Amino acid sequence: MRSTRRRAASAPWDATRDRLLASASPLFLRGGQAEEKETDLEKRTLGQTGIAVAPLCFGGNVFGWTVDEAASHRLLDAFVEAGFNFIDTADSYSTWAPGNRGGESETIIGTWLKSRRNRDQVVIATKVGSEMGPGRKGLRPAYIRQAVEDSLRRLQTDRIDLYQSHWDDPETPFEDTLGAYGDLIDQGKVRAIGASNLTAPRLREALDVSARTGLPRYETLQPRYNLYDRSGYEGELEAVCRDAGLGVITYYSLASGFLTGKYRSAADAGKSARGEGVVSRYLDERGRAILEALDEVAAQHRATPAQVAIAWLMARPGITAPIASATRPEQLADLAAAARLGLDAAAMARLDAASAWS
Ligand SMILES: NC(=O)c1ccc[n+]([C@@H]2O[C@H](COP(=O)([O-])OP(=O)(O)OC[C@H]3O[C@@H](n4cnc5c(N)ncnc54)[C@H](OP(=O)(O)O)[C@@H]3O)[C@@H](O)[C@H]2O)c1
Repeated sequence: MRSTRRRAASAPWDATRDRLLASASPLFLRGGQAEEKETDLEKRTLGQTGIAVAPLCFGGNVFGWTVDEAASHRLLDAFVEAGFNFIDTADSYSTWAPGNRGGESETIIGTWLKSRRNRDQVVIATKVGSEMGPGRKGLRPAYIRQAVEDSLRRLQTDRIDLYQSHWDDPETPFEDTLGAYGDLIDQGKVRAIGASNLTAPRLREALDVSARTGLPRYETLQPRYNLYDRSGYEGELEAVCRDAGLGVITYYSLASGFLTGKYRSAADAGKSARGEGVVSRYLDERGRAILEALDEVAAQHRATPAQVAIAWLMARPGITAPIASATRPEQLADLAAAARLGLDAAAMARLDAASAWS
């Protein structure tokens, strides 16, 4: 392929276009045209933390579940080589896999950080609160103090960039949880905090407590949000995040793989260890209409359905970085290309219409 800079010398129109391309964010360049260096990816700030991340976060729930340690390390290497720097995990990943006890994902990320000596080059987000065993869950200060030490040890680091409350814990007052996080920030063990799976009223309540008490506030929200699952986030929750200037990092950005288009019939459930659940949740009339729109927009943009699904999220106002996972290098390459895919207004409208909800 020719480089954009070489094209600039060829004709006046080319020169104008290339000046525009050079000044534009790579995010708004079309897949086939983007030729910036991988490291030129636009960075976005996580809420008001000052922490800059490339606009795609690697989801670590597959490490120790559908991907073993060696393959996880190769995927992480490829991810940073492509210019990305943001990795999400949780203490509880991946308790659900047979033989696991939790902590496997953090442990795999920890051995990678240690062997690559790249801790300062990446932004590590993890979570506390999901059940790790009897009595080991929730957001009580004493439990947080114990859980953070376990996460730091497994991650082989002295600090967590973004420490997130995995689930709401209505039995623990926000003042207590935020106070414990404040201490961890003062000690340098945590740089910023975020929440996941909070409802709009509860998120507003938490933000009000921070404003009233001076305790640290949740700077990010991690909600389930993708082209299929829109209703839980759009509306009240989205408004709270945007009003407060929170960073939004979406999970299940590919609807667990459904939006890649690999599940078209019940027989496709066998394509992944998690296929049964994906097919039963998403393969319905609305899901098929969304796949049709993804196919159409992908063909128009010389892209893939997965890239279009991620690019749609990246283009939504208020979204900082979709979180997605991959189990193979070719999947990761597919997802990485989404950061350079710009969707025009007609494409966004087509996708919005196909996935409309009421
Ligand atoms: N806060 C929370 O409560 C919460 C809950 C869930 C997840 N999360 C976060 O979100 C992250 C992502 O979640 P997720 O992995 O469950 O869902 P996802 O990102 O929607 O789905 C990713 C899966 O789709 C498949 N895939 C990815 N790229 C593909 C491609 N190009 N072509 C074909 N298949 C492809 C892979 O699975 P297969 O190869 O197995 O098909 C991959 O593991 C997690 O790692 C975690 O960090 C957070």
